[in-house]
Amino acid sequence: MDLEQFAALRTPEGSAALDAAARVAGGDPLVAAASLRSAGMPAGLAAAALTQAELRRRAVGKFGPAASAMFFTRPGLEQATRRIVADRRAQRLRAAGVSTLADLGCGLGADALAAARTGIRVYAVEADPLTAALAEANAQAAGLAELVTVECGDATAFDVTRVEAVFCDPARRRAGTGRRIFDPNSYSPPWDFVTGLAERVPRTVVKVAPGIDHALIPPGAEAEWVSVDGDLVEATLWCGDLPDVPRRATICKEGPPVNASGIAGDPCYHPTGGLADGGSNRGSGELHLGNGASVHQLTGSGTREADVGPVRRFVYDPDPAVVRAHLVAELAADLDATLADPTIAYLYADAATPTPYARCLEVTDVLPFSLKRLRALLRERRVGRVEILKRGSALEPERLRRDLRLAGDQPASLVLTRVAAAPTVLVCRPTP
Ligand SMILES: C[S@@+](CC[C@H](N)C(=O)[O-])C[C@H]1O[C@@H](n2cnc3c(N)ncnc32)[C@H](O)[C@@H]1O
Repeated sequence: MDLEQFAALRTPEGSAALDAAARVAGGDPLVAAASLRSAGMPAGLAAAALTQAELRRRAVGKFGPAASAMFFTRPGLEQATRRIVADRRAQRLRAAGVSTLADLGCGLGADALAAARTGIRVYAVEADPLTAALAEANAQAAGLAELVTVECGDATAFDVTRVEAVFCDPARRRAGTGRRIFDPNSYSPPWDFVTGLAERVPRTVVKVAPGIDHALIPPGAEAEWVSVDGDLVEATLWCGDLPDVPRRATICKEGPPVNASGIAGDPCYHPTGGLADGGSNRGSGELHLGNGASVHQLTGSGTREADVGPVRRFVYDPDPAVVRAHLVAELAADLDATLADPTIAYLYADAATPTPYARCLEVTDVLPFSLKRLRALLRERRVGRVEILKRGSALEPERLRRDLRLAGDQPASLVLTRVAAAPTVLVCRPTP
C-alpha cells in the first residue's frame, strides 16, 4: 500500500470497500477479489481493502477486536508490540509518574496507543511517511487522537527536553527486504543514539530483541525479558530512575483466543489487581487481567548461581524469559530445586510445586543416552507418542522420533539433556 491507496481507503468509498473486504476475507483471495470487482469496485481499491482486511484478521492475535478498525502494513504488524505487553509497560510508566512521553520510531503506534490509554500525552515520531499516516489513523480509530501527536521525521532530531520520558523501539528489520537485524549497531535509530538517550533523559525505556547480549545492557539499567504464552517476545531496558531491580522475567498468559469479531471472548486488558510484590527488589509478583489473562514477574540480580545436585523426582523446564533473564537460581530457591548440570537450565526437585515460571514433569526413568536402550524401554511401556524437550543436547528431536520407531498407545515426554556433563535422557510424564 502507498500513501495514495491509503488516502483512498480513508474516503467513504474506501470505508465501504473495507467493510465489504472484511466480509469476504479469510477464504480464497481470488474469489474474494472477484466478488469485490463484480460489485463494481475499482481493482486498486479492492486490492488495498483486501490486504487491509487480511492484515486485520492476522492482527487480532496481537490487538484483539480493536484490530478490526486499525490500519497495518505487513512489516509494521510484524514489529508491533502485542497489546498485553504494551499495556503493561505503559502502566508501569504511568505508575512512575510519567505524563509526557516521546515514542521515537513509533511504527504503527502500538506502544504510543498503550501509553495514551493510561492518560500519558504522547509525541510519536516515525520516519516512514506511510507508517506515520497509519499510526495517526490508528490513534483516531482508538479515540486517542487528542493524546497522540504523530510527526513524520527523524527521531534523532526530536527535542527530548519537551518530554518527561522517552520510549524507543528501534527497527530490527531491514527496510525493503524485511530481513531481521541481529547486530544492534545496525538498528534504526542507531544503537549509540538509543543508548545515548538514557544519558539525556532520566526516564528512558528501550525495547530490544530478546537475544540481546547481556554485555550490551547499559550499566544500572533494569533488563526485563517478556514471554507471552511461553514464547519469548522481547526484552525491555528500563534506564535512569526507572529500574527497580537488575533483572526481571515477565510471563504473560493471554486469555482465550478471539476471532476477528472478538466473539469467542472479547479480551479485557484492564488490570483488576496490583503487583503483589509492590515493586520490591527481589521476589515474584502477579497481576490478574480480565478474561483469564495474567502477568507474573520474577525478579533478582541475574548473577546468582543455583546449587547443583542429582536428578530428582520432578524436572522443571523454566520459561524462556526466566532463562534469558538469568533468574534460574531465583526460581530454584522458590522451588527448593537444584540443577543437575551447572550449565543447563533444567531444575530438579522432590516436590511438584505449581508455578507460572516453569513447566513441571515427573521423571520416571533416567538413562545415559543410548538409542537402543531408550527404544527398548519405550517399547516395554507401549509408548507410541512422545514430546521431546532438549537443553544441552545436539540430538535432533524429529530424527530421534523417527529412529525410535514408536509403537503403542501411551504418551511420554522425553527430556534430552546432560547430567554432570554426560548425555542423558529422562523419560517423564505430566505431573498430576
Ligand atoms: C520496531 S518499529 C516500532 C514498532 C512500535 N513500537 C509498535 O509497537 O508498533 C520501529 C520503527 O522505527 C522507525 N524508524 C527507524 N529509524 C527511525 C528514525 N531514525 N526516526 C524515526 N523513525 C525511525 C521504523 O520506520 C519503524 O517503523
